[in-house]
Amino acid sequence: MAKAPAFVCASCGASYTKWSGRCEACGEWNTIQEETPLSAGPSGKSLGATRGASVTLTDLATEEAPPARAISGIAELDRVLGGGLVPASAILVGGDPGIGKSTLLLQATAAFARKGLKCLYISGEEASAQVRMRAQRLGLEQAPVKLGAETNLRDILTTLETEKPQLAIIDSIQTMWADNVDSAPGSVTQVRAAAHELTQFAKRRNTAVILVGHVTKEGQIAGPRVVEHMVDTVLYFEGERGHQFRILRAVKNRFGPADEIGVFEMTGGGLQEVANPSALFLSERGEPAPGSAVFAGIEGTRPVLTELQALVAPTPHSQPRRSVVGWDGGRLAMILAVLEARCGIPFAGLDVYLNVAGGMKIGEPAADLAVAAALLSAREDAALPADCVVFGEISLSGALRPVSQTENRLKEAAKLGFSTAIVPQSTKAGGTGMELRPMGDLAQVVGEIFGAG
Ligand code: TYD
Ligand code: MG
Repeated sequence: MAKAPAFVCASCGASYTKWSGRCEACGEWNTIQEETPLSAGPSGKSLGATRGASVTLTDLATEEAPPARAISGIAELDRVLGGGLVPASAILVGGDPGIGKSTLLLQATAAFARKGLKCLYISGEEASAQVRMRAQRLGLEQAPVKLGAETNLRDILTTLETEKPQLAIIDSIQTMWADNVDSAPGSVTQVRAAAHELTQFAKRRNTAVILVGHVTKEGQIAGPRVVEHMVDTVLYFEGERGHQFRILRAVKNRFGPADEIGVFEMTGGGLQEVANPSALFLSERGEPAPGSAVFAGIEGTRPVLTELQALVAPTPHSQPRRSVVGWDGGRLAMILAVLEARCGIPFAGLDVYLNVAGGMKIGEPAADLAVAAALLSAREDAALPADCVVFGEISLSGALRPVSQTENRLKEAAKLGFSTAIVPQSTKAGGTGMELRPMGDLAQVVGEIFGAG
């Protein structure tokens, strides 16, 4: 049967049956490329005796214990992995160029190697000598890690087959090049082919494989998104230039909670773990100032406090600005609309800036009330009490909805020296010792906290 040709957008990975000039999914021009069929790879020769055989779930449970996870000892990393590295898993670590992916993975590899795991670090970007220099800088030159500098996928698979490591790092997937695929390294087809072969290898040979992927702005080089669906776990390494903090975030994890974060600090000697991120994110906070609210959030399984900063100023433009860093712009528009419609607080003619301090990104709707508090505080030029944290979800009616894990949030706040919390009604303080200021709706917050409305 003739196979229908497959075309893939190099920018977003959407697939099509025929070529067109513009990708309908992401709107980019000239990003659609033909995808040549992937080779079956070295495994495709013949079927093994056990391949295709099925087992009953209950038999598996009694015969085989769940695979033991390998622990690196870098607690921030182990937690993001869901409690250690799962054997035979395929992991993608994405991030902007220069953010510290190679540094993190070299440190992780060394840590796993010191725990007795057989590790192989393959760099397609740097020569082995350069990797060794980096290891020296990180004080890891004695770690029992094997290095390889290679970009040809066939050679890499051969190396992996002979070395049989328990953990292999591929840095980066965009430099890998399969000689049976007729397009340039870094193209969507190459990246997908390489990721496919390597994830297959991971399952076949019981090797955990970590693929490094650079986030790219342009469509010419495939971004890590095109392999996200092929791997078990997707981690993104985030941070802002000029900031020392780096956040490793699980956006997908077959073996643990998604949205788990690990926090690191980039130093001259590599990445250091940050055991208490709340203290770090709040460290830039000075005296209580208008426009600032502390949000007691949950990232994965852990409570994290962050500061939300808002600025509201008369606009010189006909169209006021709405600028957000670290929070969803659509959600900000919703909260402004609720403040206007339900509390009679207009933001027309005012520029609004909202920023999550420390380069954090917050996705929880539980931050709604903290966002509203920061906005109101900025608009009314009234600082919130310094000892106060805020959380709660806002509905379109202006009512406040309770959120999950309140006790964890309050405990973390108490630990960091806060004593009151503005929260939705029916929130329980538990044994946290925090004094609660329960609020039924946003209008009550406006009236009781800010004396406005
Ligand atoms: P790198 O790990 O090469 O980034 P990526 O692999 O994501 O492209 O890190 C690059 C940056 O990290 C570079 O600007 C130098 C800095 N760095 C440190 O600050 N301290 C260190 O110990 C190391 C090894 C790098
Ligand atoms: Mg690198």
